[in-house]
Amino acid sequence: MPSILVTEDNESLRKAIREFFLRERFEVEDVADADAALAALGRRHFDLLVSDVRMPGPGGNRAGLELLKRVKATDPDTIVIIMTAYSDSDDAVEAIRAGAKEYLKKGEDFSVPVLVAKAKQAFEEQQLQRENKVLRSSLSVHYDPSRILWRSPRMAAVMELSKKVAPTNSTVLIEGDSGTGKELVAHAIHALSPRANRPLVKVHCAVLSEGVLESELFGHEKGSFTGAHTRKQGRFELADGGTIFLDEIGDTPWHIQTKLLRVLQEREFERVGGTVPVKVDVRVIAATKHSLRELARSTKFREDLYFRLNVVNILLPTLRDRPEDIPVLAQFFLERYRSDARKDSRGVSPDAMGLLVKYAWPGNVRELENVIQRALVLSDGEWIEPRDLPADVRLGEDALALGGAELARSREEQEKAAILEALTLERGNRSRAAARLGLNRTTLLYKMKKYGLIQ
Ligand SMILES: Nc1ncnc2c1ncn2[C@@H]1O[C@H](COP(=O)(O)OP(=O)(O)OP(=O)(O)O)[C@@H](O)[C@H]1O
Ligand SMILES: [Mg+2]
Repeated sequence: MPSILVTEDNESLRKAIREFFLRERFEVEDVADADAALAALGRRHFDLLVSDVRMPGPGGNRAGLELLKRVKATDPDTIVIIMTAYSDSDDAVEAIRAGAKEYLKKGEDFSVPVLVAKAKQAFEEQQLQRENKVLRSSLSVHYDPSRILWRSPRMAAVMELSKKVAPTNSTVLIEGDSGTGKELVAHAIHALSPRANRPLVKVHCAVLSEGVLESELFGHEKGSFTGAHTRKQGRFELADGGTIFLDEIGDTPWHIQTKLLRVLQEREFERVGGTVPVKVDVRVIAATKHSLRELARSTKFREDLYFRLNVVNILLPTLRDRPEDIPVLAQFFLERYRSDARKDSRGVSPDAMGLLVKYAWPGNVRELENVIQRALVLSDGEWIEPRDLPADVRLGEDALALGGAELARSREEQEKAAILEALTLERGNRSRAAARLGLNRTTLLYKMKKYGLIQ
């Protein structure tokens, strides 16, 4: 139950306020002057202080305002509501500036029930803010650095470097194929940095059109283009004090690259349609699945921006290049998704694990995650067996015994056979056949075309 301290020299009003709060089951203490209030505040924490402005004793006409400042200095979480009979707009401004939640004028907009309602509203808001904080931190649970798993020396080196660079303000460029864990590493660096309590703001540079991307990144001024009805803050401003994660930086249009270069050099920019420079304190982490060096060579990417971004370079190895990680990751995903699938699978059988380790994983860790999720749904024993794995993964088995072109041909034949089998079993339903094969529908259609199964 929230606790409340009421400071009011008018006894009948004080008792009325006390009664009303008690009726709402709040915990209430009441005092008649600022001295007694300070003593009470020194003894314990109150969630809310309701105070008059003019009271006998020290501070006199401004006793309530002084009390407000003392509380905010020592216990900033305490909500303060000021009420006064002598309304003075200067006092009101001062009170709000000093952190008061409300400034109520007795007589005008004041009655005890209004005060109680305002207090309850303030408690609710505070609760919501706390929940948001928890929510924000739980969002990163998925990216909890302690949940990044590896066994391989190559990943160990990546993590070592990430830990080393995290506490600095250095710009970091993370390169690696799709699904290798670039975003996860970006989150880890942020979480291990002194900026961890500030926001990590993500921008996906590839999916937005040039105009939208520019105003997402830098914000815009009111009226800067049709539809810009209000001023909007960009992600750089939202990330102030924290980190911005520029995903797929390689796909950023040239004009925006120029603007990014300036932010990296001078930590300032202008909003779209604006003339006043906005200063920010933001750490930049960028990721790309293309080689930025190559893009810079072929003049698709500004070379100067490449050098600015590439202060520390973290290259994530493909999963094929670190097969030692496959068993731990498989077990980890199994534990993560077991309860969703309502299965009490204990693990991956040795045969199935053999296939997982041999497979090439073009989609890297994300593909492994999907394969385990799907296997959990299909499996009905204690262990995940080869039959629970997609055809692509199962094919590895015999293909390994063959070599070169023969292998490719054999793989293709087997793949075609597996597709036909799935289509037969699903009576021609392509979506279900795709699910059975662990492919998405577009990939299935592509493969059906390739094998001449459809036009
Ligand atoms: N070492 C790891 N330990 C645990 N989970 C991992 C690891 N690496 C990747 N993952 C998981 O694999 C999935 C893909 O990772 P992430 O999104 O970070 O990859 P990405 O490189 O950003 O991919 P894309 O290029 O497609 O955006 C996520 O669900 C992530 O949690
Ligand atoms: Mg990503």
